[in-house]
Amino acid sequence: MKKVEICVSPELLHLYEVSGKNVVIVDIFRATSTMMAALANGVASITPFMDLESCRAKAAEGYVIAGERNGLTADGFELGNSPIAYLDGAYAGKKIAMTTTNGTLAIEKTKAEAARVIIGAFVNLRATADFLIGLPEDVLILCAGWKGKFNLEDSLYAGALAALLFPQFDTDCDTVFAMKNLYQDNAHRLNLFLGQASHAKRLQNHNIEADIDFCLQLNQYDLIGILKGDELIAEKTK
Ligand code: MLT
Repeated sequence: MKKVEICVSPELLHLYEVSGKNVVIVDIFRATSTMMAALANGVASITPFMDLESCRAKAAEGYVIAGERNGLTADGFELGNSPIAYLDGAYAGKKIAMTTTNGTLAIEKTKAEAARVIIGAFVNLRATADFLIGLPEDVLILCAGWKGKFNLEDSLYAGALAALLFPQFDTDCDTVFAMKNLYQDNAHRLNLFLGQASHAKRLQNHNIEADIDFCLQLNQYDLIGILKGDELIAEKTK
């Protein structure tokens, strides 16, 4: 029986086996939600970077550069990390170079060993579950968290995804049981429950409420985001 596990922070990743698994990276507020919004609105590819300088340098190669630190647009970058920026198709056909506080780091930490690196967000929850169910590998859901700490929104998403993987998957991971139950207890009031999350408050302090609402919509997109080489691209699941 295939197995699913949840790792609530990249700081705990050394405790988990990554090689040969399908790794789902989740950063609900906002990196992976933004990546799915961009790919669903025609962006050609997204190349994730851990540091600002390597990302900034891609501008000279014609990439659109998107950079966020502590919820704000990084100095000198064309885009920050808002999903709203992509919804009108203004970046269709473009290659994006992206760096964020936590999300792009989680991708970098797993891409060398994972069988596949997939982008997880509420906006394409069902599509991601269907894709994983159709594959033979075990799954590790890695939450980007906040600067190494647990965050509520990523772990709740992990519980939502794990819940959809049963009964094709099983688990020995208590985090899966905990987060599956927490999600099932709060699925009917997602905005209210996650509106109290620390990063939601951080974004509210920056008057970025629209992004929070966008990131908590379920199943807007029937496609997945997957890493091919160094680039994230969109793939239809059906
Ligand atoms: C992150 O990578 O930590 C987040 O995406 C931050 C944000 O977008 O506010």
